[in-house]
Order: sequence, then C-alpha cells, then structure tokens
Amino acid sequence: MQNIDIKKVKETANYLKSKTNSKPQVGIILGSGLGGLVDEIELTHSFSYHDIPNFPVSTVKGHGGKLLFGKLNGKEVVMLSGRFHYYEGYTMQEVTFPVRVMKALGVELLMVSNAAGAMNPSFRVGDLMIINDHINLFPEHPLRGKNDDTIGPRFPDMTEPYNLEIIQKAKSIAQQLNIPVHEGTYIGLQGPTFETKAEYHWLRVIGGDTVGMSTVPEAIVAIHSGMKVFGMSVITDIGIREDMNAITHEEVLEAANLAAPKMAKIFKELLAKI
Ligand code: HPA
Repeated sequence: MQNIDIKKVKETANYLKSKTNSKPQVGIILGSGLGGLVDEIELTHSFSYHDIPNFPVSTVKGHGGKLLFGKLNGKEVVMLSGRFHYYEGYTMQEVTFPVRVMKALGVELLMVSNAAGAMNPSFRVGDLMIINDHINLFPEHPLRGKNDDTIGPRFPDMTEPYNLEIIQKAKSIAQQLNIPVHEGTYIGLQGPTFETKAEYHWLRVIGGDTVGMSTVPEAIVAIHSGMKVFGMSVITDIGIREDMNAITHEEVLEAANLAAPKMAKIFKELLAKI
C-alpha cells in the first residue's frame, strides 16, 4: 500500500532549509514548455532533482528538472521547473511529493500551470484559461491509503479547490495587461496518449473546457495540506476539430512556448498583489 511518508517529506524540507535559509510563501509549478518564468526569478539557489534527497527525477523532454529558490516580483518563491507525471510511471505519492515538500517549507499558495488541449469550441491555440474547477479522471487518487490526520483531513472538501479571491485578482490583472483570458474546468487524466475524437467529445459533454495529464493530483494534495491553489492552462491544441491532423508533443511545446510570456506576466503581477 502507498502512504504518504511524512518523515521523508520533512527530511527533504530540512535539507533544503539548511541549504537555502529560505522561507517561501508561494510555490510555483511550471508545465511543459512554460519555463519562461525561470528566467525572471532573482535566483538564490538552484537544485537539480537528482541532488535533492528523496526527490523523484523527471524524464520528459521539455521538463527542466530543477528546483529553484529566489524572489519574483518581491515575493520569495520556490519553483518546480519540470513536474512529475503519473504516465512516467511514478506513484501518486511521487507525483505530489514536491507539493508536500513545499508545504513543509512554509508555502501557503501553490500556483500551477499546464499545457492543455481544448474542448471548449471558443478556445484557440495560444489562449489562456484560468482554472476555476477540475474533474479528476486519474485512475488512482493521490490521497488513497492511510490518512495522516496531522497533515490533512481524511475527506477534504472540494467545493472551491481554486481560490476565488485569487481568480478575481488574476482576471483584473489580465484585463489591465490587455491579455484575454478564459475561465473554466480542467480535466486531468493519465495519458500518455492524446485523446481520441470520441474521447474529446465525451470530455466536453461531461463539462470540461481543457484537458491535460497533470495538475489535478498536485491541486488535490495542496488542498489536503491546507494550501490555496491558483492554476492556468495554456491551450496548445484543439481537441474537437474538423481536420484530421495529428497532435504531437512538439506542437504542444511550440504553442506553449509562444503563449508562455503572457501567462508569466499574469503570474508575476499576481505575486505582487497577494
Ligand atoms: N490532451 C491531453 N493532454 C494534453 C493535451 C491534450 O490535448 N494537450 C496538452 N496536453
């Protein structure tokens, strides 16, 4: 049985604390091709994942694999450049381990980003969507197993996983910056196949606006541990469409790279306002 190993979480957090002397309030997880913010951080410390005790190691092209500490627009942050996906073979505990570590470091707000396919017919490649809800279609739940009541409740409430106040702030920032944003529901599933036409249609029918292979486990664990969550999708492909061209990982990364600066601006401004 897989349980959260809080001793390992503390061990890792203590190691990072001893090396950095940093107490970040905000944790940021950057999705595929969305590394733009990495260049903007006033870096104080950088760790390769394989140098951090107990950390899993990322294997996917386009994922940097570094944990960064520093200041971004005046706020102390810890940033995960390259996340862990369930499809890579990690357990859900491994996928969400960095979120537990962030909490142990003192993080109160988790900001996540992802590259996503769109089911909403009004979305276009390169658009941004603020995530205001999600549907969890992963085959395994990150909180399955024995619950440790000292780190979170057995049955966490999920009526407002994405903090409404922060969503409002992000929307007004986007407006001020003249960056159009959508708002909607992200569906998280395991991948690694992109969806069939029938699956994209079904994901729309059940209420999804975007779909991707991440974010949901991280958000759940953040909520479980008492953190606030803010998330955004960058639309990298359109699931429901007339033409028959295939979706490729390269196309996803390219679209994410193009749209990343817009999202980075919103994240940065948001940091100054929270
Ligand atoms: N489906 C699932 N995951 C994705 C997609 C998609 O269309 N685009 C980027 N990540």
